[in-house]
Amino acid sequence: MLWVHPSIQLLATILAMYVLRLGWKRFCSAHLGIKCLFRWKDHVQWGQFTLGLWAGGLLLGLWAAHWEWSVYGLTGTHFWVGLAMGAVIPVSFLTGLRMDSIKKRRTIMPLVHAGAGFLLMALAAVELITGLVILSRFVAFSA
Ligand code: HEM
Ligand code: HEM
Repeated sequence: MLWVHPSIQLLATILAMYVLRLGWKRFCSAHLGIKCLFRWKDHVQWGQFTLGLWAGGLLLGLWAAHWEWSVYGLTGTHFWVGLAMGAVIPVSFLTGLRMDSIKKRRTIMPLVHAGAGFLLMALAAVELITGLVILSRFVAFSA
């Protein structure tokens, strides 16, 4: 059971790199003046799937850790950074959804959305490192 959350989150984080790569094309043409093809539909579909996986995986991680150790927050940094991601995911999702449903020229919202995307990637990198430490210390030997 303790391997399900890490597997989901690893997959979501790999997918997020792809989504960010798609979004980066838009960033280049909108802010850096470099002509790039932005695959709008792919970005939106994979972005929604990725954020859904991250959010679902977060809840599963909370539940699995509590089920195994009967407390919340035992993992320290991993727990708090996970909660921070839980706060940033809706920002990325809602701004993305808004820009997808009402299309027009914007400056602030794409930047907020991109900032949330970059931040999520950075936080996921922290989660990957701290998560691997938890796996090697607590899960690998007890499973
Ligand atoms: C990407 C690699 C990741 C690995 C290897 C990993 C690993 C782990 C492990 C081994 C646990 C203990 C419970 C369990 O095994 O189910 C755990 C718990 C948890 N994880 Fe992850 N995780 C990763 C990513 C994430 C991400 C991206 C988030 C947030 C979106 C997250 C949020 C949490 C939370 C909130 C807990 C509960 C911690 C607690 O109550 O102390 N993890 N993780
Ligand atoms: C892992 C999740 C995501 C990441 C890392 C991400 C990243 C990005 C980045 C870097 C941009 C370029 C913004 C700019 O030009 O400043 C962008 C644009 C955009 N994203 Fe996302 N995104 C994610 C999820 C989503 C989701 C879930 C949606 C829709 C529901 C979405 C819809 C859009 C749209 C419509 C644009 C174009 C905005 C415009 O220039 O008008 N994104 N995204």
